[in-house]
Formats: sequence, structure tokens, C-alpha cells
Amino acid sequence: MAIVKALLAPSILAADFTTLGDQISQAEAAGANRIHIDVMDGQFVPNISFGIPVIQSIRKATKLCFETHLMINTPDNLLDAFAHAGSDSLIVHAENTPHLHRTIQHIKGLGKKAGVALNPATPLVVLEEILPKLDLVLIMTVNPGFGGQKFLPETLDKIRRLSAIIKQKNLAIEIEVDGGIDAQTAPLVVTAGAGVLVAGSAIFGDKGGIDFATKKILSSIV
Ligand code: DX5
Ligand code: ZN
Repeated sequence: MAIVKALLAPSILAADFTTLGDQISQAEAAGANRIHIDVMDGQFVPNISFGIPVIQSIRKATKLCFETHLMINTPDNLLDAFAHAGSDSLIVHAENTPHLHRTIQHIKGLGKKAGVALNPATPLVVLEEILPKLDLVLIMTVNPGFGGQKFLPETLDKIRRLSAIIKQKNLAIEIEVDGGIDAQTAPLVVTAGAGVLVAGSAIFGDKGGIDFATKKILSSIV
């Protein structure tokens, strides 16, 4: 069997919420590795998605790792609630988390994996002091807030530079990418150094169905 070069994390933001549990099961059966959960507050990003009750509910649908991408202001106030709802990893944004060190300590204290997301305009240097404490860096490959946006190719160099820093420091940190990932862009980000790919509309919006779409992306990165 061909070796797939990265993990795939379908974003349920693009799913049909009338059959959410079933859609997650379909993605899992097709080979998805994690479930990406986009929480938006209408403040940090110009859109509102869903929150804690939805995570609690879908926790019953799968044993796959839940990574919760918190696009919300003052995430510190809700870390415990998102952890207890069933998240396995919590991803906060560097742009609105002034005490990042404390926030990461808080997440680790909850026994969860800690990730930091960077918007396209945020430089890697903001992570310089905190990098060894992270499990994951999420490089936004679109401006956060909406699914279905076009991949920003200028983020490829940022992925390459982060990959080089992680290798040079000999750290075990995952590089995840989020936004506009499909069977065309997946090989580009994997070649640049991404190890986990988030995909929403390319999986849940494909007319061919979830199984077909998931396998199409996975087979683009073998
Ligand atoms: C964007 C979200 C993404 C989004 C990706 O703010 O963080 O996870 O769901 O959607 P697609 O894959 O459709 O670009
Ligand atoms: Zn996301």
C-alpha cells in the first residue's frame, strides 16, 4: 500500500449539519486521521460557527482525535470547557493571545495537545520563544473566518521556513495547514513541509461524495 505523506483533518465547518455524525463516520472510514473543529465567535473573525454543545454531541460519533481551532477572543476563559467537551488538542491564535506562554501551560495542564495558529500576515518570529513548548503550529493558508476560500500561495515559503527551523532545532512539532487545501494544493504544502492538512469544502462539498473526495486528496500526496 502506498504511504501517504501527511495526515488529513477534515474540517466539519463545510459538513451538512443535518447528518453531522454520519458525515464524520464517512470521512473516518475513507481514511481521515483527525477531525478539525472550527470555532468562530463573530469577533476575532467575521463569522460565527458552533461551540461546546456541538463538540459534546459529535464526540459520540468517532474516536478520532478532535482538534479544536479556536478563532475566538479571550480563549483562556473557555479552554477548560472545550477540553471537557471532548477536544484532544486546542489551537489558539497568536494574534489575540497576549500571554501565550500561560495559555500553552494551561492547555498542557488540562492534559491536551497545544497548538498555535498564525494568520497569513503574522510572521513566524512571534513563536520564537514558545516553539519548544508546542505540539503543533497551524499555518493559515487563507485568512480565517470562512470555508471555501482560495489557497494563498505566498504561505508556501512560510511553511518551508518553519519546517527548516523545526528541523534545525530538532523539535517534534507538527506543521498543519488550513484553508483552500484540495488535491491540487495538498502536494504543494506537503512538499513545503506540512504534515497535517485541514480540508473542509474539498471533502464535504465535493459532488462525488465524502469517500471519493477524501481518497482523492490522500492519493494526491502519496
Ligand atoms: C477557516 C477555517 C478552516 C476552514 C477551511 O477559517 O479555519 O478550517 O474550515 O475550509 P476550506 O478547506 O473550505 O478552505
Ligand atoms: Zn480551521
